[in-house]
Amino acid sequence: MKHPVRPLLSILLLIAVTATFSSRITVRRSTIFSPKPQLRIQSLPPPVFNSTLLKFAAIQLGEEDSKQEIEQLLQGNFSTQLKYRSFFTWWRRSNSDHREKGARTSTGSPENLKSSEFNQDWLDFRRNLHDWARNKMFQPDVMLDLVRLVKHRIDGHNGLFSSDKKYKSCAVVGNSGILLNSNYGELIDSHEVVIRLNNAWIRSYEHKVGSKISISFVNSNIFHLCSRSRECFCHPYGAEVPIIMYICQPIHFLDYTVCNSYYKAPLLITDSRFDVLCAQIVKYYSAKRFVEETGKPLEEWDSTHEGVMFHYSSGMQAIMLALGICDSVGVFGFGKSPSARHHYHSSQKAELTLHDYEAEYAFYHDLVENPQAIPFISDKFRFPPVVIYQ
Ligand SMILES: *[C@@H]1O[C@H](CO)[C@@H](O)[C@H](O)[C@H]1NC(C)=O
Ligand SMILES: *[C@@H]1O[C@H](CO)[C@@H](O)[C@H](O)[C@H]1NC(C)=O
Repeated sequence: MKHPVRPLLSILLLIAVTATFSSRITVRRSTIFSPKPQLRIQSLPPPVFNSTLLKFAAIQLGEEDSKQEIEQLLQGNFSTQLKYRSFFTWWRRSNSDHREKGARTSTGSPENLKSSEFNQDWLDFRRNLHDWARNKMFQPDVMLDLVRLVKHRIDGHNGLFSSDKKYKSCAVVGNSGILLNSNYGELIDSHEVVIRLNNAWIRSYEHKVGSKISISFVNSNIFHLCSRSRECFCHPYGAEVPIIMYICQPIHFLDYTVCNSYYKAPLLITDSRFDVLCAQIVKYYSAKRFVEETGKPLEEWDSTHEGVMFHYSSGMQAIMLALGICDSVGVFGFGKSPSARHHYHSSQKAELTLHDYEAEYAFYHDLVENPQAIPFISDKFRFPPVVIYQ
């Protein structure tokens, strides 16, 4: 019985090996990781995740404090947000600038938020914050929902019929200085959709980073700074570029509410279930690397990773977004080299220590080589092929 099967099996194996080998050779020239060869992946055994690490990664530090803060904000208690007192002055100014309501001269105070002057904005703020907070839970199926949550909204804005089809190809452009080592501009712009990060400067770097911009992905700290500056004012790339933002601090719903009331393109907040998923994945990789490389107990992870402040990077979530809405993903400007600047467009040298970039690189490596090794992802989700350009 065995014999007739053997030759066929060896031929298949040979094909698999050749395919793997040749795809590695063609891709190695321009990328550090080869795309996943399909045949190899199907033959891998299902992964066994360490349950201690899974449980550890599922704990989000600071959740209780965050809940309390949200509760206070929903009640209109801004007493712990003193720096936001200036917000009301700004709010009036932008209202008069952008809605032509006429300038108001009174100085604002948080207690005024519920006054009639702000009534509509207050109701919007409350509703947005409430919906977001209510959704904050672990639900891996959110990956399957990203087309509806994001692509349908953008299609609708562009007057297109929304289908469940994903974008054919997406480029996610990070801001690493390594972008200056190659001329990827044209290649980046050849993708159907180009996602850029945190309002990175493009002008005079087109050759290196391209110029197309389909989605601007930002964190709300960046958005907050931009919304207060008259030059940037909510939309540094123009009011037609959709923005997707993740919320770093609940109070940033104020900036969102104000900008959203006159932003033409979709201004979307990442679903909080999606935030939770990203947070758990990165914490898992970080904790795993920590115990494997330092040999220290898991309990010491908190104190070496800024505990409550620890957060995934915007780039990581932008890649996760692309995985959910694109049939293939090209990743540019992620990674570092001793000769490269931290950001291609600034002289900032230091990295933020509240991110664990090495853990995120390990995650990207698995995306390319072995997506099955990524924890917390729903079985129903199929990863698209990912190529990382270095
Ligand atoms: C899982 O990880 C924990 C923490 O690093 C470790 O103590 C434990 O031995 C691991 N369990 C298995 C089965 O590998
Ligand atoms: C607002 O929150 C602060 C801080 O938790 C608390 O001390 C204060 O009593 C609250 N004010 C009202 C009016 O609930």
